Parts: sequence; C-alpha cells; structure tokens
Amino acid sequence: MKKLISLLLVLALALTLVACGGSGASSTSGAKTYKVGVAIYQYNDNFMTLYRQEIENYFKTLETDDVKYEITMVDGKNDMAEQTNQIDTFITQKMDVIICNLVQTSSAEVIIDKVVAADIPLILINREPLGDNGDESYEGIINNPKVCYVGADARQSGTYQGEIVLALPNKGDINGDGVVNYVMVVGDPENPDAQYRTEFSIKALTDAGVKVNELVKNVGNWDQAKGNEIVDAALAQYGKDIEVVFCNNDGMALGAAAAIEKHGRKVGEDIYLLGVDALTECQEMVKNGTMTGTVLNDHIGQSHAAVDAAVAALKGEALQNYYWVDYVKVDASYFG
Ligand code: GAL
Repeated sequence: MKKLISLLLVLALALTLVACGGSGASSTSGAKTYKVGVAIYQYNDNFMTLYRQEIENYFKTLETDDVKYEITMVDGKNDMAEQTNQIDTFITQKMDVIICNLVQTSSAEVIIDKVVAADIPLILINREPLGDNGDESYEGIINNPKVCYVGADARQSGTYQGEIVLALPNKGDINGDGVVNYVMVVGDPENPDAQYRTEFSIKALTDAGVKVNELVKNVGNWDQAKGNEIVDAALAQYGKDIEVVFCNNDGMALGAAAAIEKHGRKVGEDIYLLGVDALTECQEMVKNGTMTGTVLNDHIGQSHAAVDAAVAALKGEALQNYYWVDYVKVDASYFG
C-alpha cells in the first residue's frame, strides 16, 4: 500500500512538472503550445491583410508534433487607445511573444515599456518608430535585447517609384515643357513609409536633374476611396496639366486609376500612375499598361522574417535589433 501511495505521489509530481513546462508555454501530451499575440493596426488595409494572413499560414507550417502555436490576432481599428488595451490584455493573458503593427509610432515607447516590463519578447512590424538619427537608432529597440523591428526601408520604395519614371523615354515630362507636374497622394502622414515615399520618389527625379512641380499633395491614409477622391478632384482642377500621379500605396493607386479613367485619361499615353505594394491586381495593371509601375512590398518576406524572429525569441535566442527585407521595382520590364 505504501509503495502504491509513493508511486502515485511521484506520478502526480511528474504530471505537475509537465503541465508547468518551460517559459509559460502550456504543454499537453508532450507538445508545447506557445501563445502568440498579434496586434494589427487595422484589418481594413489591403496590404496588411495579405501580411497578417501570411503570419498565420507561416506559423502553421512551422508546427511540429512537439511545438504548436496558438495565435490570437486582433484588429486595432486604427485606434491607438484600442490597441493599447489589446496589448494590456495580451500581457494579462501571459502571451509568450507579441507581434505588433503599431497604430501610431509615436506610442512605440509606451507599448515597448509595458511589454518589456512583462518580460515578453516584442516584434514590431511594418510601422517603424524612428530614432533621433533616423532608422536603426530607436532607443526602445536598440536598448532592449528582446525587442526588434522587422520591415522594409521605405526610402528604397520611394526611390524606385522615381526611377520608374526616370526610365520612361520622356522621364515623365509628357508635354515636353521641361517640368514634371505631379500629384502626390500620401498615406498616413504619421507613418515613415508615407513620409519617405513622398520624399524619395521626388528626390530621385530632382537628383537626376529633372525639374518638378507639385500641383496637389493630399492625405489619403492608404485608403482606396480617399485616393479616388483626391485624384478625381485634382483632375477636375488641373486637367491635362497633371503628368504623373504618385500614390504612396497601391490601394490609393487603385482609387486613382478609377478617377483617371473617369476623366477619360489614358495611363502611358497622357498620364503616368505609380503605386507601392505590388498587389496582384496592380501587377496585372502594370502588365496591361493601366498602371505605369509599382514596387513590391514583400509581405511574404516580411511576415516570415517577423515569425522567424518570434520563434527565435521563444527559443531564447538573441534577436538582432533590425531585420530588413528588400523592395523590388515592378514596371513593364519586370514581366520580361
Ligand atoms: C505600408 C503599405 C501600405 C499600408 C501601410 C500600413 O507599408 O505600403 O499599403 O499597408 O504599410 O502601415
């Protein structure tokens, strides 16, 4: 009888140990389940929809008999207060790792401080908090070994937009008056992607000695309907004077394309249209000439890099501060 009791005690102890197994992750029948919290700035965003779907797909491919990932993904609805609550909830739920696409980069410090205090690794994605010296210098990232940023250098995407225009036989100067008259449709102005694309697309032209004139610059917040409104109004006001429409993303470029069609203008003949992201439908448009060019924002590369960083953190491996994924220029020549 004594033997049986001590056997039962040993068994109970062993079961407790298994149940408590490592770094907060739960464990049943030998498999470890890591809890992953993913906070997206807004579900209603063409590019971030592809990105977040690939985060889930890729985590699934990494599962084994021994390791599972339980993903809790939430929509910040473009509201920083809402996202802060969501991060608080992730902390209460004791997530093993958090992936966060900030609503506002100006709130990065608050979010980083909370998550670091809870000793949870934090992977920031898509919206880069900029340090005083630009990228790769944000204090909350460089000073915290369990915090990193995964993204693409938005300057490169702006430069590529400009280079696509420079590669055109008339370099964007359709009417040959020596000046490229353009419209700039800006994403969320708080977002470095919008700031850098706006600046570097034009810089590529002026660095090459091309004279430019900005007719309209307006904020479209990455949104297709807003892109449509802005370009519709610009065409109504400036008509044939507009030679190039730069959009900080493809969502807004899709809206712009509809406005261009409505005004009876023809991309490639009497106007040029540029976007960023290389959404499938925009790649088709570049192929058939209804868009001049776009820039591939590699959601596969970025989501995989983010998940790989999360998994490395779960294994207790040291993180780099920054992980960069290249953009790719997409104009007619891309399709051979
Ligand atoms: C950009 C992308 C936009 C939008 C934005 C959200 O990188 O080009 O389409 O998704 O991120 O922060």
